[in-house]
Amino acid sequence: MAEMKIRIYGDPVLREPAEDVTEFGSKLEDLAGQMVQAMIEADGIGLAAPQVGLSLRFLVVGLPTGEDATRRRVFAMANPEIIDEGDEMIIMEEGCLSIPGISEEVERPEKITIRFQNLKGETVEMEANDILARVVQHEMDHLDGVLFTDRISPLKKTMLRGRLKRLAQDGA
Ligand code: CO
Repeated sequence: MAEMKIRIYGDPVLREPAEDVTEFGSKLEDLAGQMVQAMIEADGIGLAAPQVGLSLRFLVVGLPTGEDATRRRVFAMANPEIIDEGDEMIIMEEGCLSIPGISEEVERPEKITIRFQNLKGETVEMEANDILARVVQHEMDHLDGVLFTDRISPLKKTMLRGRLKRLAQDGA
């Protein structure tokens, strides 16, 4: 596969609902490895396949594990679903590799239970909270063509309109 290029706001692939992953094994492992590399190079903590131009329900997460920023706790999730979520909502600031230079506060559930398939195609259920829950929810939105800027207040959206328009014109 050619080198991964992160797609920028305005690229139509970011608005397409993605297709289920149906092939597991070495090909998906290669994709995961390349996406993790692209994510780390771009200084991100999560990346969804549509962000590299692949309309697939697949995402990677890589959370730094401490002082050494090169060490990451990595997850690769195919066909993820949220099967339960806590009642508590929290506000956290989000950014996105596809929307460079913009970050805004977004409210989401603090805790979720997710079901996904790993690289071998095995079904896994996992509870996540705090930053992990946040990143997974953000990346899962990408699989439905949703961006975090869709989830901010109408006032903030209005304030960002010019910058987003410029990104869409020049960024891709
Ligand atoms: Co994003």
